[in-house]
Amino acid sequence: MDGQDWFYTDVVKEHFIRPRNAVLFDSQIEDMDAVGEVGSPACGDIMKIWIKVKDGKIIKCMWKTFGCASAIASTSMLSEMVIGMTLEDAIKIKAKDILDKLGGLPSKKIHCSVLGDQALKKAIENYLDKHQ
Ligand code: FES
Repeated sequence: MDGQDWFYTDVVKEHFIRPRNAVLFDSQIEDMDAVGEVGSPACGDIMKIWIKVKDGKIIKCMWKTFGCASAIASTSMLSEMVIGMTLEDAIKIKAKDILDKLGGLPSKKIHCSVLGDQALKKAIENYLDKHQ
């Protein structure tokens, strides 16, 4: 196996070691407005994302996963990217945008970055369903 196959950038390592906006206690998500949950068909891991919205913008984004280091780093990055974004812009984010910010992931770990992206879309849809 080529060592490059498992190369993790410093940004990935930093977000894995110090995940941003991860839910540690249930009290942190008591006031959230919506939630989205997905499971990965590739590995069976689960991702859950909560959002809080004000004036059409995401003001808080928190998450919890049973996924791997790549899922943790990807969703940590995603949670920072979406805070301050309109729902309209946030729903357009693609896994590739997260990967670009991370400087990439090993090819066998790309599916891990899709989890946060899909859970966020479900959270936004959940919010829109509740507020129509
Ligand atoms: Fe399942 Fe990464 S292997 S989320």
